[in-house]
Amino acid sequence: MEKESSLLTKSIFVFIILTSFSCATLPKPSDEKITLTAQRLARGKYLVEGIGVCGGCHTPGSHEGKPLKEKHLAGDSIFIEGLGTINIPNITPDVQTGIGGWTDGEIIRAMREGVNKKGEIMFPFMPYPNYRDMSDDDVKAMVAYLRTVPPVSNKVPKFKLPFPVNIMFWLFSPTPKPVKDVPNPPKDDPVVLGKYLVTIGACSDCHTPRKGMKQDMSRFMAGGDPHKGYWGTTYASNITPDKDTGIGNKTDEEIITILRKGISRPPMSFLSSYYKRVTDNDLKAAVAYLRSIPAIKNNVPEPKPYPDKK
Ligand code: HEC
Ligand code: HEC
Repeated sequence: MEKESSLLTKSIFVFIILTSFSCATLPKPSDEKITLTAQRLARGKYLVEGIGVCGGCHTPGSHEGKPLKEKHLAGDSIFIEGLGTINIPNITPDVQTGIGGWTDGEIIRAMREGVNKKGEIMFPFMPYPNYRDMSDDDVKAMVAYLRTVPPVSNKVPKFKLPFPVNIMFWLFSPTPKPVKDVPNPPKDDPVVLGKYLVTIGACSDCHTPRKGMKQDMSRFMAGGDPHKGYWGTTYASNITPDKDTGIGNKTDEEIITILRKGISRPPMSFLSSYYKRVTDNDLKAAVAYLRSIPAIKNNVPEPKPYPDKK
C-alpha cells in the first residue's frame, strides 16, 4: 500500500514538473489578422473541402459516409476501439460552441502546432503533426475560409482521453515546437508537390501501420491496419509502389479513379466526395510521390463482413 501511494505521489510530481515545464515553453499564437481576399478564400475552400478532408472528422455523419450538410464542420463524437469516445470539436464560426471566439493566430497554432486556445497540448488524433508542413499561405487560406462557413450551434463535449491513455499522453507527449516561415511547395516538381499534398492529406494516418500508438515509419504506407464499422472490417491498402501487393501495377488513371469515384470500400470510399474536388494536377502529383517512396511487400488481409450483417 505504502509503495503504491509513494509511486502515485511520484507520478503526480513528475506530471506537475512536466506540465509546468511544457506550459512555459509552448508556442505562442501570432497576433496577425488574416485579410479575407477572394483568392485566399478560394484556396482555403479548395484545401479544407478537398485534400484536407477536415469534414471527414469534424462533420457529423461522416464516419458512416453520410455527412450532414446542415452541420458542416459542427463537430462529432465517435467511438474508436482502444481509444474510447473521441469528441471532435465544432470548428464553425459559432462563438459559443465553435471557434468564433478564437483569434486567427490561435486557430493557426491549433492546426499546425497542436495547442488549443486554452494552451493545452491537443491529442494528435487531429493530424496536426502532419499539418506542421502546411505553408504559411495555405494555413492562412484555410483559416480565412473557416471564418466564412455557416456558424452552427452544436455543443460537443470537451475532448477527453480515457484513462490510462490520458496519463500516458500527458507524460510522453512531446512539447509542440513553433512552426513558422513554411514556404509554398514548388509547382513544377510533381514529387515534391505530391509529398506536400499526401502529408497534409494525412494519408499515412490510415495507410501506415501502427506500433502501439505510433506510426511505424519503416513501413510507411504499407497498409494493413483494420478499420471497423457497419461495413465490417476493412484493411488499409498497401499504397507503396510494390508491384504485387501495392499500387505498382496500377496506372495513374486507375489510382486517380479510385480516389475520386469511391470504388474502394469504406472508410476510403467516404473520402471520394473530397478527393473528387482535387485537381488532376494535384492528384497526379500525389501519385508521382507515392511512386517515389520505398516499395514494401505487404499482403493486406481480405476484408471481413460482420457475420450478422443483414
Ligand atoms: C482524423 C480526424 C481529424 C481531421 C482529419 C481533422 N481534425 Fe481537427 N480535430 C480533431 C480532433 C479529435 C480535435 C480535438 C483534439 C484535442 O482537443 O485534443 C481537433 C481539433 C481541431 C481544432 C481545435 C478546435 C478546438 O475547439 O479545440 C481545429 C481549429 C481543427 N481541429 C481544425 C481542423 C482543420 C482545419 C482540419 C482540416 C485541415 C482538421 N481539423 C482535420 C480531429 C480531426
Ligand atoms: C480514414 C482512413 C484512410 C485515409 C485518410 C486514406 N485512406 Fe486510402 N484506403 C483506406 C482503406 C481502409 C482502404 C482499403 C479499402 C478497401 O478495402 O477497398 C484504402 C484504399 C486506398 C487505395 C486503393 C488501393 C488499391 O490497391 O486498390 C488507394 C490508392 C488509397 N487508399 C490512397 C489514399 C491516399 C492517396 C490517401 C490520402 C490522400 C488516402 N488513401 C487516405 C483508408 C484510408
